[in-house]
Amino acid sequence: MRVLLIGTGGREHALALSLAADPAVELLVCAPGNPGMAEVAELREVVPTDPAAVAALATEVRADLVVVGPEAPLVAGVADAVRAAGIACFGPSAAAARLEGSKAFAKDVMVAAKVPTARARSCAGRAEVAAALDEFGAPYVVKNDGLAAGKGVVVTDDRAAALAHADACLAPTDGSVVVEEYLAGPEVSLFVLTDGTAAVPMLAAQDFKRIGDGDTGPNTGGMGAYAPLPWAPPTLTDDVLRDVVHPLLGELRARDATFNGLLYCGLALTADGPKVIEFNARFGDPETQVLLPLLTTPLAGLLYAAATGRLAEHPPLTWREGAAVTVVLASAGYPGTPETGAVISGADAPGVVHAGTARGADGALVSAGGRVLCTTGTGEDLAAARAAAYRLAGSVTMPGGQRRSDIALAAVQGTVTVPR
Ligand code: AMP
Ligand code: GLY
Repeated sequence: MRVLLIGTGGREHALALSLAADPAVELLVCAPGNPGMAEVAELREVVPTDPAAVAALATEVRADLVVVGPEAPLVAGVADAVRAAGIACFGPSAAAARLEGSKAFAKDVMVAAKVPTARARSCAGRAEVAAALDEFGAPYVVKNDGLAAGKGVVVTDDRAAALAHADACLAPTDGSVVVEEYLAGPEVSLFVLTDGTAAVPMLAAQDFKRIGDGDTGPNTGGMGAYAPLPWAPPTLTDDVLRDVVHPLLGELRARDATFNGLLYCGLALTADGPKVIEFNARFGDPETQVLLPLLTTPLAGLLYAAATGRLAEHPPLTWREGAAVTVVLASAGYPGTPETGAVISGADAPGVVHAGTARGADGALVSAGGRVLCTTGTGEDLAAARAAAYRLAGSVTMPGGQRRSDIALAAVQGTVTVPR
């Protein structure tokens, strides 16, 4: 099989490693790729959000399968263009990717499908925002209505800060901002592969959204992750498939927006059961970096089965025993304006997954984005995996780098609890 993978991040490097390891893959092309992906694939230039350019590249490399990593190309219609060129694509159409691209659309679909989620108000101006904040009370949750890579959300007890974020979201477009009820409970990322009808869940994972230890500071794209979740209720996956995934997929089919690809369910496990915080239309980053090292099912065949509507015929997923932990190394300044160009050393070890890295003029590896790389460890249990991830992290250095020291710590200590 000839595979074209679109994207440049840590998720894409992890996908590339698994695709390259699948014996069915005879050619792997990544576009635009990063220095880590260059080790396992041929890199090509492309503007990932240009549907015609991606479809042309897929045709040129005679791809049997295109895998789209990030959300922006999906929202821009890249999967539609690839399918129109007669090539199988793992990734939803623009119509279905609105599930991630528009918080208001996502809420509308969830309400129609009776999917449990936070009550929310889409507000068109400051007065509506203020009324919604008072209706739901603190902690306040205010969300930008567009794509914001996880950074468009403010969760705060400070009403003035909530209003200020709403103003900032409203200002550039005079569009709308979403205010919602706060969901109390541990967060879980459950990824489901789907061809629009059949749904195959992966292991549940947990991501760490805040920049600082102890879940302090602003939200980021994700600072670390682990899987599986030793504390999760045993019925979690079945409950989410029944109450969230199947109703949602049905509603999308009914709206002519069949979802084919990876449905990312971001959930809060509340006292009233799992509720959806957000959907994403692609693999999560950095959860992918802990799930794929545990997955023993060959990845290309699995994604091809989903892309071609044959997921129901695919054998069940198989997983390695044990656990995986990944720790992100971010640039100084992230999640604000990251400082780039810092020299990185130690990043060629196995288990280092590249995100925002580049080669400087002299060939040295330098930082080129907010989240620079992550170090993944696996082990027979979470404690062993965590130790391995941090051991590897300690051997990768970058001036000014930021890293959380508590990824998976509460789970190892057994202090994560689901409210009842
Ligand atoms: P989102 O971009 O919607 O995923 O939000 C980013 C992060 O903000 C989530 O991962 C949560 O940590 C937090 N968050 C968003 N919405 C809520 C909510 N309704 N209740 C509690 N936390 C939330
Ligand atoms: N890990 C969060 C995300 O991928 O959006």
